[in-house]
Amino acid sequence: MMKDFWNDRVVVITGASSGIGLALLENLSQYPCKVFALARRANDIADPVSKHSACVITRIGVDLQDPSSILDALTILLSKTDSIDVLFNNAGITAHGRFDELSMEVYRKTFATNFFGPIQLIQGLLGGLKQSKGAVVTTSTVSALYGVPGRAAYSSSKSALHAAMESMRIELREEGVRSSLVCVPYTETNLRKSGLDVKGNILDEGQAKAKLKTPREVAYLLMKVAQDKDARLVTFDFSGFFMKWMRNLAPWLLEKILYKKLYHDFH
Ligand SMILES: NC(=O)c1ccc[n+]([C@@H]2O[C@H](COP(=O)([O-])OP(=O)(O)OC[C@H]3O[C@@H](n4cnc5c(N)ncnc54)[C@H](OP(=O)(O)O)[C@@H]3O)[C@@H](O)[C@H]2O)c1
Repeated sequence: MMKDFWNDRVVVITGASSGIGLALLENLSQYPCKVFALARRANDIADPVSKHSACVITRIGVDLQDPSSILDALTILLSKTDSIDVLFNNAGITAHGRFDELSMEVYRKTFATNFFGPIQLIQGLLGGLKQSKGAVVTTSTVSALYGVPGRAAYSSSKSALHAAMESMRIELREEGVRSSLVCVPYTETNLRKSGLDVKGNILDEGQAKAKLKTPREVAYLLMKVAQDKDARLVTFDFSGFFMKWMRNLAPWLLEKILYKKLYHDFH
């Protein structure tokens, strides 16, 4: 990590009330920077235990499923800054269930949170990002790299976001706006408690039975990616690396492995 990179930066974090976003806020609060912490429960975000005296945190309530709430949040944010160095496009929900059982409402809510909301917010912040030749760092998932069984709504919403962020990266190259996608593996957060089941009810599932990353580890990587001018599609560990390459090299084998490994997620 470049020691002084975060000093005096203006940073926006979505999903700052929990998990990876909260860990980002805690890490960033060690620097003399301005952080805008966005979430529905923004007012519940406590001040980090140890915080640099010159770090200024502004909490802004926003519901990414609600376009008018996003407009209100943009008005507040843009009244306080006209430049944004880094936008951590991090908020998101998961949705669990088979393709043939998932209700359309689940698709709509998942896409509203993981795709339409972030797109509207990013469009609204582009002026500030252009002003400082800033970076958008998206917290994505290994499940965006292939349609994962039992996760059709989640996988598709995140891979749609990939495509939009890649288009943006190419188009805004001359203006210096960067965009990186970080495919995070299983991490110990509340994602399985805040996501949706097939009918759109809140999931409330236990943690995945896998080796879990900590939110702090993921936040550290996201901050490193924000500093890397060449970062595009970043995978965190072997699971992401494997998905990324196997989809092109041997999709039949990848599907066989996903079928076996995730069988209980769709039966
Ligand atoms: N945990 C994992 O295993 C894992 C793996 C790969 C990728 N990810 C990605 O990591 C990102 C962060 O998730 P997490 O794991 O840290 O889960 P989390 O603890 O559930 O945090 C999700 C955050 O998103 C916010 N959020 C959810 N719905 C929102 C809405 N409608 N409007 C505004 N904010 C909303 C939540 O805030 P409020 O509820 O206060 O609104 C919360 O701060 C997500 O994009 C997720 O897809 C997670």
